[in-house]
Order: sequence, then C-alpha cells, then structure tokens
Amino acid sequence: MDSQRVSLYPFLGGPGRSAPVIERTEGVHWQMAGGHRVLDAGGGAIIANVGHGREEIAEVAAAAMARTTYVVPPFATEDRVALVERLRRDWLPEGLTRCMFTSGGSEAVDSALRLVRQHFVSAGQPERVKVIGRHRAYHGATLATLGVGGHEKRRKGLAPLFVDHPKIPAWYPLRRPASFDDEVGPQHSAEGLVEALEREGPETVAAFIAEPVAGSTLGAVVPPDDYWPRLRQICDDYGILLIADEVMCGFGRTGRRFALDHWDVVPDVLVGGKGLAGGYAPIGAVFASERVVAPITEAGDEVMFFTYSAHPMACAVAEKVLEILDREKLIERAASLGEQLGKRLAQLETHPHVAHARGLGLMRAVELVEDREALKPFPKEAGFISKVVAAGLGRGVFFYPGGCDPARDVACFGPPFIITEDHIEEMVATLELSIDDAAERVAG
Ligand SMILES: Cc1ncc(COP(=O)(O)O)c(C=O)c1O
Repeated sequence: MDSQRVSLYPFLGGPGRSAPVIERTEGVHWQMAGGHRVLDAGGGAIIANVGHGREEIAEVAAAAMARTTYVVPPFATEDRVALVERLRRDWLPEGLTRCMFTSGGSEAVDSALRLVRQHFVSAGQPERVKVIGRHRAYHGATLATLGVGGHEKRRKGLAPLFVDHPKIPAWYPLRRPASFDDEVGPQHSAEGLVEALEREGPETVAAFIAEPVAGSTLGAVVPPDDYWPRLRQICDDYGILLIADEVMCGFGRTGRRFALDHWDVVPDVLVGGKGLAGGYAPIGAVFASERVVAPITEAGDEVMFFTYSAHPMACAVAEKVLEILDREKLIERAASLGEQLGKRLAQLETHPHVAHARGLGLMRAVELVEDREALKPFPKEAGFISKVVAAGLGRGVFFYPGGCDPARDVACFGPPFIITEDHIEEMVATLELSIDDAAERVAG
C-alpha cells in the first residue's frame, strides 16, 4: 500500500472522502502510512484492553486455527471448553454459569433479547413482550438492539424496521433537570423504572436493559452507588429479568472485572464483547443463570446460534487475553491508572469548552460545549468532536468520538491498560491543544 489515504466509499466516509491508512498497531500505538505514530487513547473503539501486537496471542490464534478450523457451535472443542472453564472459574459473577458466544457485541445483545423472550415464552408467560431500555443508550446496530437502544443518530430513519421498546432516562446528572422539559423529576433515577413498569403494565415486561456505566453515547457516565442495587431490587419486585450490557465497560475496563462488581450487583443476563478478546478476534458473549435457561431447556427449546458463534480461534484468543489480564494484573493497573487519568482530566474542567470530565477506571470521557456556563453545545454543523479527533490525530493521539444530544460532543478515553503515566500526560495535554485547535477552526 503506497497511499496514505484510501477511499473506501460507500462503506466508510462519503463521496470524496478517504480513510487514513494504518499500517501496523503495536503496544499502545498505531503506525500510520507515511510514518506518523499515534497514541491510541481510545483503545480503538474502547476495546484494546491488553494493547496491540502481542505475539503470544497471534501464536495461540495460529495454533487454534490449525487444530480446529471450524466446528458447528453446539459441539465442544478444546478452545471452547478452556474459555468457558476460565470464565466460570475466575471471571463470572456468582450464579452466572451459562455461556453463549457470538461474533461481537450487537449479536450478543440481540441474543440476550432472544434469550429473555424465550425464557418467558417457555415459562408460559408469552404476554411479556417488552424490554425496557434507557434513552441515550447504545446496545448495538442490529434491528432488535436498535429497538431497545436510544442513540437517536444511529436509529434515524430506521424506525419502521424495528420494534421500539419503552425507555426511561439514562442517569445523566450534568443537565438534570433544567434543560430537559420532558424528563424532569424522579424518573431520572432508578425510580424511573417503577414508573415505566406501572405505565406499561408489569405483566407485559420481560426485562430491563442498561449499560452499568454509560458508554460513548453519553460518555462514561457513572451512576450513584444506590442506582444499580435499586434497579436490581425493582426487577426482583416486579419479576422481570435484569440485563447488564457490559460490552464496553466489562472485562476490567472500569478497574473491576465487571462494572457491576463496583456495586455488588449480579444481573440475570450479562452481555460482554470488546474487552473479552481485546480486539484480537471478533467475539461477544451472553452469560446467564441456570434460572434463566431452565424453562427453555425444560420445554425442549433452543436458543439459535450464529454460524460463527464460539469460533474456536476466537475462543482460544479470548482465553489467552483473559489469562494475560490476570497474569499481568492489568485490572488493578486499570484501576490505579484510571484514577490518575481521572484526576488529570478533572484539571481540564476549567477550560472554557469543557463541561465535565467523568468516568471510572480507564473508561473516561470529557464532554465539550461551546459555552460552559450555559452548557450550550456547539452547533451540530460545527461537527466539533470530529474536529477535535482530527486535530488529535494530527498531534499524534487518537480520541474515540462519542456523544448524543444534548451531550453532543464527547471525547472518549479507553486506552490499553498497559499505558504509563507519561502516556496519560501526553493524552490529556494533547486533548487540551486539540480542543483549542478545533475551537479556532469553528470560529473560522
Ligand atoms: C454498550 C454496547 N453494547 C453493544 C455494542 C455493540 O457492539 P458491537 O459494535 O461489537 O456489535 C457496543 C458497541 O460499541 C456498546 O458499547
């Protein structure tokens, strides 16, 4: 490849736009065509937990492929068994013993929705058809996951294709309640679920789904300590299942194995992806308790797999990634470096375009606005976060762009857990400069 930019339209960008070429990824860096080196502060799409380019993982992948290229998902292979054993032994919250694998997060959430629906159909409660979600949440790009999600930009124009499920507001204290005419009051807290259940008729609801720490849609928003225990209690009181979407925040990202571990809450269904294989292989997962699965197996029903579900190579890679996380004590590292990153980002809160810095562990975000006092976002046409990301790339740091109105422009941090204190300094200093660059460009 000799060009530094390639047009991949229509799959990326638009007419006349082109994509920068990345030649290699290594450690915490990307090597771009032309020799430019970029620090991966976003960890790609907040996924590269163990860093890039580990030879031992490539070797595991090659060996797994040579051993069992493809085997239909219902059969056991050495790599599948090893992954499930490691997950059950070292990772999964108590009681979550059932595992199902997919090729990524969207497929995993989609499968979780099928699982909870099948649970109630098999249990003789077919009237439970709704899954309550949260506004400004992202659960994937399949039609079913768009229906329980609330990322309006990603749902735009697609509504006729999916079933839209009821939503409650996501926890988002920054602008609460003044700027949300339609969303004031207790429904902002976990009590919003009670209101929604009473409104919808609890007997029609199968489950509630949410991200324990909101992902890139709102930007690493962490709820108060009583939020998740209360949601758990409400689900139990009303007899509905609790689905935790930990595709982004799971597998160590927040400084604990799973984000819900911070609050000692065990969901009925836990969904993972991204960090499970750290970007080395496409794999997502659904974990559930025996109680969730029992009615389905008792009725002789099955939850359909995808052709690539539990691909042996992907399972072998995930097993290795989980082993590395423990061997190198990377979750502890994510916790301590995350705290440092948080402290350093908080210093940016005096910047005129920084509304809020927030997050947990190495899942962090900075919300950007035109006017800090009024919390007024930049105009949509300004494409402010895209300009910040472009400026960051030029200066040698990649920030993962996020945001959804009114948190329109959010710079997300999800670096590999192997970063150093120097990298933290480089990321934060570069973000500040990139915000200034972008603001200058918007001002014209
Ligand atoms: C919380 C959450 N759920 C689901 C998904 C979808 O996962 P994937 O993009 O792997 O399909 C994402 C992706 O960003 C996510 O952050």
